[in-house]
Amino acid sequence: MARVVRFHRIGGPEVLQIDDVVVPPPLAGEVRSNVKALGLNRADAMFRSGQYLEQPTFPSRLGYEAAGTVESVGRDVQGFTPGDAVSTIAVPSQGRYGVYGEIAVVPATSLVKHPPFLSWTEAAAVWMAYLTAYGALIDVSNLASGDFILIPAASSSVGIAAIQVARLVGAVPIALTRTDSKREALSRLGAEFVMTTENQDLVAEVMRITKGQGARIAFDPVGGPTIASLTAALARGGTLFLYGALGAEPTPLPHLDVFSKALTIRGYLVFELMFDPARLERAKQFVLEGLTSRQLKPVIAKTFALSEIVEAHRYQESNRQIGKIVVTV
Ligand SMILES: NC(=O)c1ccc[n+]([C@@H]2O[C@H](COP(=O)([O-])OP(=O)(O)OC[C@H]3O[C@@H](n4cnc5c(N)ncnc54)[C@H](OP(=O)(O)O)[C@@H]3O)[C@@H](O)[C@H]2O)c1
Repeated sequence: MARVVRFHRIGGPEVLQIDDVVVPPPLAGEVRSNVKALGLNRADAMFRSGQYLEQPTFPSRLGYEAAGTVESVGRDVQGFTPGDAVSTIAVPSQGRYGVYGEIAVVPATSLVKHPPFLSWTEAAAVWMAYLTAYGALIDVSNLASGDFILIPAASSSVGIAAIQVARLVGAVPIALTRTDSKREALSRLGAEFVMTTENQDLVAEVMRITKGQGARIAFDPVGGPTIASLTAALARGGTLFLYGALGAEPTPLPHLDVFSKALTIRGYLVFELMFDPARLERAKQFVLEGLTSRQLKPVIAKTFALSEIVEAHRYQESNRQIGKIVVTV
């Protein structure tokens, strides 16, 4: 028997419970691991509350991201053996392969060997954030030295990864946050400029900073009415990435800016990389090299014990965090 987190109905953090269950052995192509730490992603809370791309079948497991040691491997698995230290780089389905708990069984293609200099907590905070930022900014956009990039929800784990990835290639990260409380932290974490959206004129500030040109990229996980300011702050030929749905309000299409400045509005899901082995390999190399050079360094907002999983989800939805929330097992 293993302690795993499951939910038996859709709802708030309180629907999460720890159940003792028999976790089956790995099937062909799968790896079964002892989990040491798991990283929270906003998608987990959205899945729990029935607002995600995938709908749960009850009782449902959840969670994309974990680090631990391999316990056993299924048929046809190559490259992993019992005892290896590994992290998940996001599983294809939370319901089927959810990693919250003492044991996780995931496809071998969703695993990467854990660089030895990372703690378990850090290793559970790497892959979703950096692969998402790398995929949109480097793989799709070739972000380069001198490019200005707007990063809404910059204090999120993906936002901080985007700041670090931008700096690594010499681009200029402009971090957006809603209130003044995270300004100083975002500057310390590498944002060249920080803007508070509730009390600053985003478009005027971006135009001042970019000497009237506008930014090349906006990397937005929020949506809603602020995308009109983001498109107004983009340069001619710029790209607005939409990669999340943190905002609850309808998202307008600012079509005047879109056609007059030849903008691209591009959706992005990290699974774009997961299903393309060559692109995924390049992504892993980029992240591993960045971790080794310490130019990419996961920021941990707070850690919780597995027994505090409900509190961990409450904390995430309070939006007080700066960086990744990690649960140790
Ligand atoms: N497309 C993909 O493949 C992919 C992969 C990973 C993550 N994501 C998405 O990336 C986003 C960040 O994920 P995460 O797990 O890193 O999140 P997180 O750490 O939980 O980020 C939360 C932060 O976002 C900001 N925020 C929350 N609600 C907001 C709103 N309504 N308007 C503006 N800002 C808001 C808050 O910062 P302030 O209070 O400072 O504003 C908050 O601290 C999520 O939308 C997630 O679904 C997408």
